[in-house]
Amino acid sequence: MADRISVMLTEDQIDARIKELGDEITKKYEGKELVLICTLKGAVFFACELAKRINLPSQMEFMRCESYGNSDISSGNVKLLLDLDQNIAGKHVLVIEDIIDTGRTLSYLMEHLKTRKPASIELVALLDKPDRRVADIKADYTGFTIPDKFVVGYGLDYAQNYRQLPYIGVVEQD
Ligand code: IMP
Ligand code: MG
Repeated sequence: MADRISVMLTEDQIDARIKELGDEITKKYEGKELVLICTLKGAVFFACELAKRINLPSQMEFMRCESYGNSDISSGNVKLLLDLDQNIAGKHVLVIEDIIDTGRTLSYLMEHLKTRKPASIELVALLDKPDRRVADIKADYTGFTIPDKFVVGYGLDYAQNYRQLPYIGVVEQD
């Protein structure tokens, strides 16, 4: 593991932004209950921190989708590996994602969840890489818009490594 990683976003910057997102979401849903859906595995760190900052009655659910084919390029063929424990019909749902890249995974997931007739559904992404977008999808709340670089840390992996880094960084190719 000799990769060099340069810091793009520090833990303090991420914490501060998550607090702002939590406040914004708390205000938006005042008086309501929320079902928070964390997409595994990448969004797990973000979802835990964000959930702690959303001051509303809420439940946490986990889903796992996978694009067929290879690691860092999304193919658009998505399959559902882990589903929710509850019926979301009539509920207010917030999907929590680590990063929107091409948007293919999320666009599949959001369309799929809408068929379950939630009262409302929104999307929050910690990171957005708009330069690479293929599918027509936009987060309702975005932590940071970043350039087209492959990033790791804070849940994001490179071949399953680096998820545990407390910051977001770029793997420098030698
Ligand atoms: P999309 O379908 O292309 O939007 O892919 C989204 C998924 O690809 C994310 O949930 C990540 O798992 C992965 N991904 C996309 N860009 C990166 C990156 O820069 N670092 C790590 N994972 C990424
Ligand atoms: Mg992911």
